[in-house]
Parts: sequence; structure tokens; C-alpha cells
Amino acid sequence: MILALETSCDDTCAAVVTADGVIRSNVISSQGVHDRYGGVVPEIASRHHLELIGAVARDALATAAVTLADLELIAVTCGPGLVAALLVGVATAKALAAAHEKPLAAVDHLHGHVAASFLAPEQFEPPFVCLLASGGHTLLARVRDKGPGYEVLGQTLDDAAGEAFDKGARLLGLGYPGGAALERLARDGDPEAFEFPTAAGLRGLDFSFAGLKTALLYRIRDLGEVDAERLRADLAASYQRAIVEALALRVERTLEQTGIDRLALGGGVAANGPLRERIARLGVTLDFPPPKLCTDNAAMIASAARYVPAVPFPNYLDLDVYASGEGALQAV
Ligand code: KG4
Ligand code: ZN
Repeated sequence: MILALETSCDDTCAAVVTADGVIRSNVISSQGVHDRYGGVVPEIASRHHLELIGAVARDALATAAVTLADLELIAVTCGPGLVAALLVGVATAKALAAAHEKPLAAVDHLHGHVAASFLAPEQFEPPFVCLLASGGHTLLARVRDKGPGYEVLGQTLDDAAGEAFDKGARLLGLGYPGGAALERLARDGDPEAFEFPTAAGLRGLDFSFAGLKTALLYRIRDLGEVDAERLRADLAASYQRAIVEALALRVERTLEQTGIDRLALGGGVAANGPLRERIARLGVTLDFPPPKLCTDNAAMIASAARYVPAVPFPNYLDLDVYASGEGALQAV
């Protein structure tokens, strides 16, 4: 039995998962206080994590009907993410583990998103290609085994796909985070109404979304306030289509180049319905974890923890967090 904590951004999460990947509890407390700022404010996120983490962890244990003493392992996200936010999870995990002299596993957030595919009941076996598209990251990886050593084949050169959704949503007057709201608005719109760039000319497997957001900004300006308001749903649908096509195009290229015919989706953007429909038409063997396991959660962190070395008590007391990719190996 593994207890995992995840506090890398603005969701305070705790979950209990068994060694064979069965979710016993998966508690997610979304802070919902960053909307008014149009993005996550790290210091506010951190303070909220501090207030919530105890209750969320207790809830995860109670729902799973286990006590701390029953746990074999405590796992926590060490990065990448907001440092002040990560520190709350890591300090809490260290305290819980040390108090019971349990081992601790340091998990990389992106490995966690990949490992959502290894959870029961539909555990997806490597090798496969994984498209990971979240608010902070967008990458394509070749997953050969269940450990953190997946190979990154392509990534975004500027904004993440979720960021593109969020920035587009903001331009269309929707709240933050805006991906799901933009998807809802787009349901009433025509995806062919406007042409937005998909960076198709960018060779290779890398993504670029910065031009897309600028194109939307100019389009709204050109239309003027009244028409932009009248055509909001069309703008949303066309904008969403451009993101979906940009993602699908790189996925197609990756499958072709690697010769792999198994594909998993991960990250918050993988909750997007039109993306799922578009990817489903590729005709390969697919794993779409349920939306609740695509957006940030601690069950995926517990899942990943099964495939990283467990650090015995008390060797983890100086474990540190990291804001971006490079720290991953140092932290473990
Ligand atoms: O993985 P995640 O929960 O957090 C990060 O690690 O970033 O991803 C959050 C991102 C946000 O940008 C959000 O707008 C986007 O995922 N998202 C969506 C949908 N649901 C969440 N984007 C498009 N369609 C959705 N249904
Ligand atoms: Zn994430």
C-alpha cells in the first residue's frame, strides 16, 4: 500500500494505491482561488497547500480504510513544478514517512502522468508512444518500460498545449484554467469558421503554440468587439481545432517514425473530447486514462512510485525539490 502526495501546482492531492496498481482512494482538492489572477500565483498556491494537505491526506487514508502504519511506502512529487508548492508536499511526506520510519519515493511529475497508464483496471503495457499535454508541458515520449527513463522525442518550443488553451480561453473571456470551458464553448461553434496556424511547417516532432495565441488575438481585434462576441463559439471551435490538429500531426509523425502502434495520452489536455476523438481515428491501440487521472492527481504519483527506488529511512531527509527538468536525477 502506497500513500502519495502531489502539490506541484494548484491542486492539493493525496491517494492510496496498492502495489499492483489498484486505486483505493484518490482525493483532489482544487484550490479555485487563482481564477481572478488569470493564472496560478505560486505563493498563494503554497499557502493553500499548507492549509489543505493534512485534511486531504487524512481523507485519502480514511477512504482507503488504512492507517499510516499499514503503508509500505510514501511517495511524493519532487518536481517539476512550483518550488514553494512542491515544498509543502515534500515536507509533509518526509514528516509522515520519518515519523513511522517508512521508506520514501521521490517521483517526477511527468513520470507520474505517464504512469497513469499503469493503473488498474486497464494497465497499458510498454512499449508505447505517450503524448503528454498539460498546462506546463507538452511532449512526445517513447516509453520502453515503466521507469522514469522514457525517451523524449519532441517537445514544445514555447507554450504548452494547456497554456495555449488557457491563453485562448482568457482572450475569449473565459476563466482560468480555461481548457474545459473553451471545450464547452466550442461545442456550439464551427471548427472550420476560422483558419488558425498549426505550425505544420515546423519539421520534426517539436510543437509551437505561441503563434496560435497571437493569431487569435489579432483575429479578435480585426473582428471588433461586437462581431468577436457574436462569433465567440466559432472562434473557440476553430482555435481548439488548431491545437488538436497540431497535436495529432506530431503524434502521426511519431508513430510513423518509431513504427510503434500503441499510444497513450496523458496530462490535463488529454481530457479534451475532440482530441480524444481525433486520436481515436488514427487506428492504433490506445490508452486514454479517465479524465480524472489525466489532470493532476496523486494516484498517478503512487503508480510511478512503484517503478523508482524507495529511499530507506532516514536517507531522504535532505531530499530537495526542483522547478524544471534538469533536477530529476539529482533529486532521486
Ligand atoms: O496536467 P494538468 O492538470 O496540470 C499541469 O500539470 O499543468 O493540466 C492542466 C491543463 C490546463 O492548462 C487546462 O486548461 C487543461 O489542462 N485542460 C484542458 C481540459 N481540461 C483541462 N484542456 C483542454 N480541454 C479540456 N477538457
Ligand atoms: Zn500535470
